[in-house]
Formats: sequence, C-alpha cells, structure tokens
Amino acid sequence: MEIVHTIKDLQTGLSALRAQNKTVGLVPTMGALHAGHASLVRRCVSENGVAVVSVFVNPTQFNDKNDLVKYPRTLEADCRLLEDCGAAFVFAPSVEEMYPGPDTRQFNYAPLDTVMEGAFRPGHFNGVCQIVSKLFDAVKPDYAYFGEKDFQQLAVIREMVRQMKYPLEVVGCPIVREADGLALSSRNARLSVEERKIALKISQTLFESRTFATSHSVAETQMFVEKAIAATPGLCLEYFELVDGNTLQKIANWEDTSYAVGCITVFCGEVRLIDNIKYKE
Ligand code: PAF
Repeated sequence: MEIVHTIKDLQTGLSALRAQNKTVGLVPTMGALHAGHASLVRRCVSENGVAVVSVFVNPTQFNDKNDLVKYPRTLEADCRLLEDCGAAFVFAPSVEEMYPGPDTRQFNYAPLDTVMEGAFRPGHFNGVCQIVSKLFDAVKPDYAYFGEKDFQQLAVIREMVRQMKYPLEVVGCPIVREADGLALSSRNARLSVEERKIALKISQTLFESRTFATSHSVAETQMFVEKAIAATPGLCLEYFELVDGNTLQKIANWEDTSYAVGCITVFCGEVRLIDNIKYKE
C-alpha cells in the first residue's frame, strides 16, 4: 500500500495501473476509520483492480468550527486498517493541496440539499460537493463508494454525478451497525460510557418504528419516534423525517411512495448522531 500526499504523486502511481486496464475504485473518507469504512473499502477492493482511499478532514463542509477542531485525526491507525483491507493507495493530502485558493464554487441541488441536514447545517453539502468533485477530478475513479448512513449525502452526490456527467458509478453501501444496533460512526468515539448506552435508543426506536409502521399511518409513526426520543433523558431530537428515498421530500401517506425512508438526527449530549431506516423499498 502506498501513502501519497499530493495529487501529482497519486496520479503518477495510478497511471501505470490504469494502463493495465485496471478499474479504479475510490472510497472518500475523513479518517477516524471504523468497521463501517472497512466494509466500504473491502467492497471497493473486491470490485476493482485498484482501490484508492482518501483520508481528508474537509474544512469546507463543517459549518461548526468547533466540530472541525474536535474531529478525530488518526492517520496511523487508519493506514493500518486500510492495509489490512487491501487498499492500494491512501491519499492523505494537506488542506493546501486540496484548496490552494478559496473554492468559490456553488453547488445547488435543491431540494435534495436544502432539506434535513441541508436545513440544519447550512453550507454543509456545498462543502461536501466541493471536496468530492475535487477527489473525482484527481482520482478519476470508475466507481466511488459511499455509506447509506449518510443517506442524504449519497442522494446529493448521485445528483452531482448526474448533473456534472462524471463518468463513474456511485455505489451506495448498507449501514454497518454494532452488535446491539447502534450505527457505526466516527463520532461514537466521543460518547461517554453512559452516553453510549443512551444512544442505543436511537436505533432501537427506528427498528421498533418499522414494526409500528406496518399498522399505523405516517403521522402516527412520526409521533411514535418523536415521543420515544423525547422520553429518553440525554437525547435531544433535531429532526426525524419520513421521506421518499429518491426525492427526499416528506411523505404524508405510505402509498405516496414505493421507497420510504426515515432519517433522524439526535444529539446525545454534545455528540450529533445520524441514522436512518427503510420502511419500504
Ligand atoms: O462522508 C464523509 O466522510 C465525508 O462527507 C466525505 C464524503 C468523505 C467528504 O468529505
């Protein structure tokens, strides 16, 4: 496995392999890798001739500067995990390498990027699109892998790829959960032992709501989730929305769509956790 820090070194390394007609897969990450990332990387390795993993904490997607400062940076441990997964390249650029000057590009995929996370984290998806487009331009992957835990991010990136006509396929990969159900996230490392127990209520509620939804309306299911989270000391609901999984628009009835997804964001103490569940697909 090669660890490279510049676009030039990455492209030099990739060009020989591309000449051998190997497909290039990319897994963009911000590091602090866990088993969820490992599953993306293993899939990328198994489906491509070359797997590139980028590790870059992208400043432009943090609307809360405190969150950026606190974001865990664990490149050495990340590289050990990536070597184990069979990645060929780790691309770990500096901020100056990715942003030699201000990036003034504006990406607008409304309403996909204005609802839910887009409403609560203004500018977040613009930053995500800035860095992901730069990574696509640098790596020129045939396939790019993203986790479904960031459900809205996946929808926004698919739309960017469609509108900008990137010649690549976006591969969405299922959420990886702890044995007890908590969705894996780099942020889980910031939970205290007590908070970790409390956070479990998020996935539990989503799973219970799926059963509840089979005999209740959308509005009742919405209320079921809101009440369960509100009744849990230590959790504070930011939003729970039942949406069409393609348009991300709210649904009023289960019959409105064949693809119904519930997206949730909850603060557990100071840690902002997101999760989602499919009711119909
Ligand atoms: O999902 C993430 O970790 C980030 O948003 C991504 C896609 C790597 C862009 O920085």
